Amino acid sequence: MCGIVAYIGQEQAFPIVLKGLKRLEYRGYDSAGIALLENGEIKNYKRQGKVAELESFTDNQDTEGTVGIGHTRWATHGLPNDINAHPHTSGNGDIALIHNGIIENYDILKEGLLSRGHKFESETDTEVLVHLIQDIKDHEKVSTAEAVRLALNNVIGAYAIVVLSKDNPDQLIAARKSSPLVVGIGKKGDYYLASDATPIVEYTNEVVYLEDEEIAIVERNKGLRLYNIQNQEKTPYIQELELQLEALEKGGYEHFMLKEIHEQPHSIQDCFRGRLNVDTGWVGLGGIKDYEKQLASANRIIMVACGTSWHAALVGEYLFEDLARVPVEVEYASEFRYRNPIIDEGDIVIAISQSGETADTLAALELAKSKGATILGICNVVGSSISRITHAGSYTHAGPEIGVASTKAFTAQVTVLTLMALAIARNKGSLNEAKFRRIITELELIPEKVSKILESSDYIEELSKEYKDASNALYLGRGNSFPVALEGALKLKEISYIHAEGYPAAEMKHGPIALIDEEMPVFVIATKGTSYEKVVSNIQEVKARKGKVVAIVTEGDTQVKGMADHVIEIPNTDEHLSPLLTTIPFQLISYYIAVMRGCNVDQPRNLAKSVTVE
Ligand code: M6R
Repeated sequence: MCGIVAYIGQEQAFPIVLKGLKRLEYRGYDSAGIALLENGEIKNYKRQGKVAELESFTDNQDTEGTVGIGHTRWATHGLPNDINAHPHTSGNGDIALIHNGIIENYDILKEGLLSRGHKFESETDTEVLVHLIQDIKDHEKVSTAEAVRLALNNVIGAYAIVVLSKDNPDQLIAARKSSPLVVGIGKKGDYYLASDATPIVEYTNEVVYLEDEEIAIVERNKGLRLYNIQNQEKTPYIQELELQLEALEKGGYEHFMLKEIHEQPHSIQDCFRGRLNVDTGWVGLGGIKDYEKQLASANRIIMVACGTSWHAALVGEYLFEDLARVPVEVEYASEFRYRNPIIDEGDIVIAISQSGETADTLAALELAKSKGATILGICNVVGSSISRITHAGSYTHAGPEIGVASTKAFTAQVTVLTLMALAIARNKGSLNEAKFRRIITELELIPEKVSKILESSDYIEELSKEYKDASNALYLGRGNSFPVALEGALKLKEISYIHAEGYPAAEMKHGPIALIDEEMPVFVIATKGTSYEKVVSNIQEVKARKGKVVAIVTEGDTQVKGMADHVIEIPNTDEHLSPLLTTIPFQLISYYIAVMRGCNVDQPRNLAKSVTVE
């Protein structure tokens, strides 16, 4: 939610900040803006819409300056228009600020400021913060950095901010609480600040991830100083980035989403690399090695997540319960955190999150930690907040996922959950050797089977044409295919804006069947396995009501072929692993339908990649 980027150094700031905003645009694209400080003046350019709008707007303008801050917005308070766009400035224009997060007590702060004569242009909470900083600076006669610190002590909510002040053109002040912020340490005494490392990696691989309630002051020729909000100085912990620049480019694909779908044979392999040895019959995840016993004997494991990651958790529930025989509860993080959940010290809470920054998931974890639970994380983004607050965890190693619709992160999450379930099962002795061997042998073959499904892309594109004008769609699956049905429906609705619902196939006759007519496509997972015959009956029920059926079947299936309007054949695999394959055709269908409908696949309306507000 909102991307922030800033630069101070010897180079021109504008092109660096603009490029950084393009990299961060997946975090929000309602408006974009850049403020530069040069010759004692702040120049503030902002525009509703994407970064490209800002770029053309600034085409012939003066964009000189070696210090600048930029923002790409996902609107929370106020419409997505030019006025509400960041950066926001203080009343006298001396201070400019960019912000990611929500100032929850902004209305009370605003009342106080209004009574002291402040006038506001926008409807945002952010403008209140910059006025508050100016107000404190003027009344307390303190430096801007101290005013920022004092102001933040009055703020309730989440923030990552960068502040630029006329009275110190050699300085940027940054702070975070609950929203991420990274400082990049350049090679020539220059500094980069950003919501994540993607705008930074091009210039340096030395970074400092700010912790909650830390304030960083970066000064040209003087360096980086770090304080906590109580004003105690801290030593910055410099880390090395492993991110590769190429991973942030489209690499010849039309969209990031398509690239990321096609990366899955590699990303799944990267995920189990070094964690699986079929020859010796071994599975292990270094990050949670010390917790394997605890996981094996846990009374209960609670998985918390949102969106696609929540669907991965549902697949995890099947895997953990069936293979490792450990009871699992899957919770929406947003619900869990507010319903006074019963958590014992013996419980293990596992958070699943691509970004590692999702506000609700973070809050759910913090709650569980405060009640004494062991908290583990499954994250994709290295160094993310969740990966840092958990006791231990495993990265998914899927590489940067830029498309807002999650694809390769989902299959990587399911792969980690499979490895975890197998490792726990091994530790506990809940799985016999032959079954264990069979599953790991099949797991190793998944990447080539995914490649095989991707070879059917043209066929899937062709059949998608028939459903591109649908207004509604139903996705059905049973057992561990039910979460895949949910995920298929989420993919379709988020990028093509077609209303879609996922259901356990047997639930259809308890309501959704009323919706079925000749206009309604029903996407069914009917691969060989425990519920195959039952799903075949469900397909017949749909056909009896003239619904259109697109079925995902196991190679060589003839029974469903005779009934469905379209079948997509996928290679056979062990039933526990089928979500890693069945999800691929659904990803492709939503991608092609969205493209045919002229939708912005990588940046669907109203969405943002990383939801750092509640
Ligand atoms: O970064 P996270 O995995 O925590 O994000 C959770 C959801 O916001 C995310 O999966 C969202 O649902 C995606 N847009 C789905 O494609």
